[in-house]
Amino acid sequence: MSLRDCRIIELPKISDPRGNLTYVEAGKHIPFEIKRVYYLYDVPGGAERGAHGHQKLEQLIIAMSGSFDVILDDGHETKPFHMNRSYYGLYVSPMMWRDITNVSSGAVCMVLASDFYDESDYFRDYNKFLEAVK
Ligand code: TYD
Repeated sequence: MSLRDCRIIELPKISDPRGNLTYVEAGKHIPFEIKRVYYLYDVPGGAERGAHGHQKLEQLIIAMSGSFDVILDDGHETKPFHMNRSYYGLYVSPMMWRDITNVSSGAVCMVLASDFYDESDYFRDYNKFLEAVK
């Protein structure tokens, strides 16, 4: 897996004067089935999230409200993504270290995930992540 596999996916957007609507269909708009949804919110100013990698998990990260930066790192190079639209999802492949920074006040970061929560799938130590990708 490399950074080339990670990309912004533009989700369908139904524009309407009453308010816009976006939807995600598993296996159609994103390349995995969704087994879990979680979200980060009430993030205090200056706090950073992420700082881990996953062995097998695939994810789609969406800024449902507000904005934040996701910095992806495949062990060879890093790439920043500025998330600030609720119809853009960032596809994150397995074996990708991610840091989430610059979270705006009131931001909500929703994550669609390919599997249930499993701590044994995590890399929490950056050096162990680097050893695994090399
Ligand atoms: P973590 O994935 O480290 O958060 P971040 O998105 O900032 O990297 O998870 C933080 C804590 O929440 C950790 O103790 C594990 C727990 N957690 C669950 O119990 N279930 C979940 O689905 C997730 C994502 C985390």
